[in-house]
Amino acid sequence: MNLRVRPVSRLSGRVRVPGDKSISHRAVLLGAIALGTTEIRGLLEAEDCLRTVTAVQAMGVDVTRKASGEYRVIGAGRHGLEEPADVIDCGNSGTTARLLLGVLAGQPFTTILTGDDSLRRRPMGRVAEPLARMGATLLGRGNGTRLPLAIRGAARPRSLTYETPVASAQVKSAILLAGLGADGPVTVVEPATSRDHSERMLRRFGGDVRAAGSAVTLVPGELEAASVDVPGDISSAAFLLVAGTLVREGGVTVEGVGVNPTRSGVLAALGAMHAGIAVADLVETDEPSASLTATPATLGAATVAGALVPRLIDEIPVLAVAAVLAHGRTEVRDAAELRVKESDRIAALARELGKMGARVEERPDGFVIEGPARLRGARVASGGDHRLAMALAVAGLVADGETVVEDVACIRTSFPSFVACVNALADGDALAEEP
Ligand code: S3P
Repeated sequence: MNLRVRPVSRLSGRVRVPGDKSISHRAVLLGAIALGTTEIRGLLEAEDCLRTVTAVQAMGVDVTRKASGEYRVIGAGRHGLEEPADVIDCGNSGTTARLLLGVLAGQPFTTILTGDDSLRRRPMGRVAEPLARMGATLLGRGNGTRLPLAIRGAARPRSLTYETPVASAQVKSAILLAGLGADGPVTVVEPATSRDHSERMLRRFGGDVRAAGSAVTLVPGELEAASVDVPGDISSAAFLLVAGTLVREGGVTVEGVGVNPTRSGVLAALGAMHAGIAVADLVETDEPSASLTATPATLGAATVAGALVPRLIDEIPVLAVAAVLAHGRTEVRDAAELRVKESDRIAALARELGKMGARVEERPDGFVIEGPARLRGARVASGGDHRLAMALAVAGLVADGETVVEDVACIRTSFPSFVACVNALADGDALAEEP
């Protein structure tokens, strides 16, 4: 399926985006291994999170969809999961695969995980290695670093202190989840702090988690069921906010968006680019949320590097679009992780935005964009990467002439209502899906 994008001069209105993807995965997984009944509201019903739901169901967990986004998970407890009868297909979802490996490292049975073409190319050694140190047995392609991968967990994993070479919430979370049944505390030390949704939710489920700087320690123990309200996904909201900044007229408000500071670096980056995103109606819970409003602005360049990178890693594709239209030289550094996401996002951004007239200079760990450039409508390819597909659609909204983004079914993995949200703000059919 392709997306035909018509340029617009105005976007205005208030919308809500679906639930946060990272928090949704964690709510299902923790609900599955807790004792008691977990109620989730606002769960993201997109392909990635539904993979996690299907995976825990395959291990005998009772999950009921009560209404749109409302789920009941009857926890099996740490010792209640069953060996799945078949291979678990994680689809496009790296979070499903890596967090599940963490849970499975403490389960004394054998599970085989696989995924789609993209996920089977992505690195799994980063979780396999620490989990093997904790006593799990893993066997997979590429010497245990690629899916399909089989894991047999240890009944009682070993306590571990682990320094991760990359700041990755998925690696950190996998180790913490494996640590729940360990014979002593587990500590993860990161080079920079990654999103802390697992830590916050583990505490909500009664877990003993302590953070000090970029080190996190979990003391093993049983989890108890909880109720979880999932805020809107800032990674989805970012596409609408950048679009609202780049068009000539209007104002875009996205309500109820999660603004956890370890996750909302996009607001800092847009602020540095002189796009003031107004924050209102802040609700302070363990995952704070707010309404975010973007208004048209003339953007300046910014540098994105260091500890900011993990706080906005998924928003870099759409920030690159903003950088193309910003005055000056935007530099993204320390972001080599972009090369191992759903696609090699550095190469893909340079190639596809280049087709639209942007100057994107590739670097091993990021890129440099000289702006402003006029974007011209073109035929561009998402390469099956949802965030590339949506970033290119945003570029098309502010280009001269029509753009066609190829291969956009992938948008369903994280933001199924993207086209509807943009069209509601454009007051017309700015985006049209074509078979
Ligand atoms: C995620 C962590 C990040 C992010 C991904 C979701 C999570 O990945 O890019 O989209 O839910 O923990 P890494 O842990 O690989 O940095």
